[in-house]
Amino acid sequence: MTDILSAAGADPAVVPEFPMARAAGCPFDPPPGLRSLQEEGPIARVRLWDGSTPWVVTRYAEQRALMADPRVSADITRPGYPAPAPLPKGSFASFILMDDPEHHRLRRMVQAPFTVKRVEAMRPAVQKIVDDLIDDLLAGPRPVDLVEAFALPVPSLVICELLGVPYADHDFFQDNSKTIIRRDAPPEERAAAGGRLTAYLDDLVGRKLAEPADDLLSQLAGRVTAGELTREGAAQMGVLLLIAGHETTANMIALGTLALLQNPDQLALLRDGDDPKLVAGAVEELLRYLNITHSGRRRVALEDIEIAGQVIRAGEGMIMANDIANRDPGAFPEPDDLDIRRDARRHVAFGFGVHQCLGQPLARMELQVVYSTLYRRVPTLRLATDLDAIPFKHDGQVYGVYELPVTW
Ligand code: HEM
Repeated sequence: MTDILSAAGADPAVVPEFPMARAAGCPFDPPPGLRSLQEEGPIARVRLWDGSTPWVVTRYAEQRALMADPRVSADITRPGYPAPAPLPKGSFASFILMDDPEHHRLRRMVQAPFTVKRVEAMRPAVQKIVDDLIDDLLAGPRPVDLVEAFALPVPSLVICELLGVPYADHDFFQDNSKTIIRRDAPPEERAAAGGRLTAYLDDLVGRKLAEPADDLLSQLAGRVTAGELTREGAAQMGVLLLIAGHETTANMIALGTLALLQNPDQLALLRDGDDPKLVAGAVEELLRYLNITHSGRRRVALEDIEIAGQVIRAGEGMIMANDIANRDPGAFPEPDDLDIRRDARRHVAFGFGVHQCLGQPLARMELQVVYSTLYRRVPTLRLATDLDAIPFKHDGQVYGVYELPVTW
């Protein structure tokens, strides 16, 4: 192992490939290869699709330390950045892939609607969306695909309302988002999908410039008028928020439901308890346990950084594998158990440091409403197929299920 980790770099032939596969029959657990690396030490070399050998950071404490370290950059344009797949030419750059001060300047422009207070004010509207969708579900045919009928519409309706994007266009933006975050899609296909979505948002920003409304895209259009943002920049922020706003939460709804159906004791606790704190705790535990952003947060060192007895050299890439960090026994006892009564709030499913998820108050609230409503209103909810027939998103940057056939 010492040879593999030598400061001079690594021999790609002996370094394990990343990403690693999940074990058959264990759809909720990180790849066993990541577990082995974690057992060996906090950081290790891995090999990427392009033959490069960045570091993977597997333990919780080291990951939090590095994510909060100003010598660590999220700038995708820096040499050494460990890209998860070939970068499409002219790929859209959003502030999630930038460093401060520009990252901070742009993030501030869109943070107001995502504060806990503003999000709490939206809770009754989200509850109505959830109730209406469950009414439709119960009135419709069975079995039904829960992804299509419920998990995708909930966050899509919410983010559309918040941004000022017409929900009627959901097929268009959902299809393109799906392509953009598919790791195995050819770069030209991902670039084309990014281009279509940016053009769509650019057109919407144009309409908000002409006729502002009470929504976030109109506020961004206002920034364009004030000369603080280019129109292209406004459109790119719209793309980031639209994708981040529905893909992630939708996967948590569907995969979370599947995990609960596979853990009936935990589902019963959640369904039969009426304490909002229990529901909030269940949301945190499912975020920790499932960690849907499973391809790791990507970073590059700006300076030499000493950590865990190793030196990460300036210009070397790092992958913060937050899925395995959330299963670090040093941070969470019995980490592979789903236990909705544990205190999981310190998880890194939303990342850590300056890029920590902007939408986390919204995601939490949506998931609390969903998890406290769906299983109570549909108490006999069950899978309408075998677990091994369910298509999992192994190829996506966000983990989840493509379909979840359910009945009741
Ligand atoms: C369960 C749902 C969600 C999960 C698990 C999740 C996870 C994450 C993670 C891990 C990051 C950090 C990225 C990094 O450090 O490289 C992040 C950033 C971000 N998330 Fe989320 N997210 C969720 C929901 C949302 C929602 C609903 C929105 C709303 C628009 C959103 C908007 C963002 C934005 C804008 C960033 C970039 C923040 C920055 O770079 O400063 N997310 N998210």
